[in-house]
Amino acid sequence: RAGRIAVVGSNMVDLITYITRMPAPGETLEAPSFEIGCGGKGANQAVAAAKLGSQVSIVTKVGDDLFGDNTLRNFEEHGIDTRHVAKVAGKSSGVAPIFVEESGENSILIVKGANADLLPADVDAAEETLREADLILMQLEVPLETVRHTVKRAAEWGVPTILNPAPATPELNVGDLRSLSFLVPNESELALLSGMPTGSEEEIASAARSLIEQGIGTIIVTLGGRGARLVTADTVTPIDPVRVTPVDTTGAGDAFIGSFAHFFAATGDTEEALRQAARYAAHSVGRRGTQKSYASAEEFASFCQGLNPAASQ
Ligand code: RIB
Ligand code: NA
Repeated sequence: RAGRIAVVGSNMVDLITYITRMPAPGETLEAPSFEIGCGGKGANQAVAAAKLGSQVSIVTKVGDDLFGDNTLRNFEEHGIDTRHVAKVAGKSSGVAPIFVEESGENSILIVKGANADLLPADVDAAEETLREADLILMQLEVPLETVRHTVKRAAEWGVPTILNPAPATPELNVGDLRSLSFLVPNESELALLSGMPTGSEEEIASAARSLIEQGIGTIIVTLGGRGARLVTADTVTPIDPVRVTPVDTTGAGDAFIGSFAHFFAATGDTEEALRQAARYAAHSVGRRGTQKSYASAEEFASFCQGLNPAASQ
């Protein structure tokens, strides 16, 4: 069955410039190309899950500008429930100037705009929708108090939660996250949250376990090209990377989390959902753009057949 996923998080408009190198201060440099598209970690994760067929709602705020209207339309085109998308008068939408190098690597600046106005009261106003969800997804592009509040309320409602603690901030404490079901950090976010080193496999496992001892259910550490590690109180399971030639890595982490939410809500199998998510993220890395690089269920099925020809027999 299609799972019900709710996102409490951000939306941005991504302004992606493909560059050969960053200009030095005072220098003007020509770049080969530019693309504009819908992004923002919350919206990206919502769109990935929706494209795969989940029933998705998002609690977010857009600005009082053309970008805001466009973002609303984009949610609607993906069948995402926008009853809890509000427009903030006199504020700009969130925007993200992004620079992608020829290696596919990206550098991102974010301007939160209206996302900074998403407050605990907005979460309470969406209670009816949120408490019916199979999973609630959060990231850190909205005020921390809103994330803390959502984690607390979701525990009261008995709804499982996923937090992607990105972009990293030292203001987040493990104490805020005691009832969280899944935390999905990368190595540096894990180091920041645990206060422990994450330079080796052993260190990653110990740092993740220290968070589990403090009350977080499961830790999924994402390692980019090295795949991911699923860490529980007594196991570490490697999730192998899927090798592709990178074209644009922007939003690959969000593709991973949104698709994990989709597969986990549909099956309840964490490990298998992560293996599917690794494939889904790999597919997105081979295409330009953020949300527009995400596969539909059909595109994803044929991508997977191409990875494993035996599976298509
Ligand atoms: O994770 C990628 C996203 O980070 C981009 O879409 C950009 O908007 C920033 O939020
Ligand atoms: Na991409």
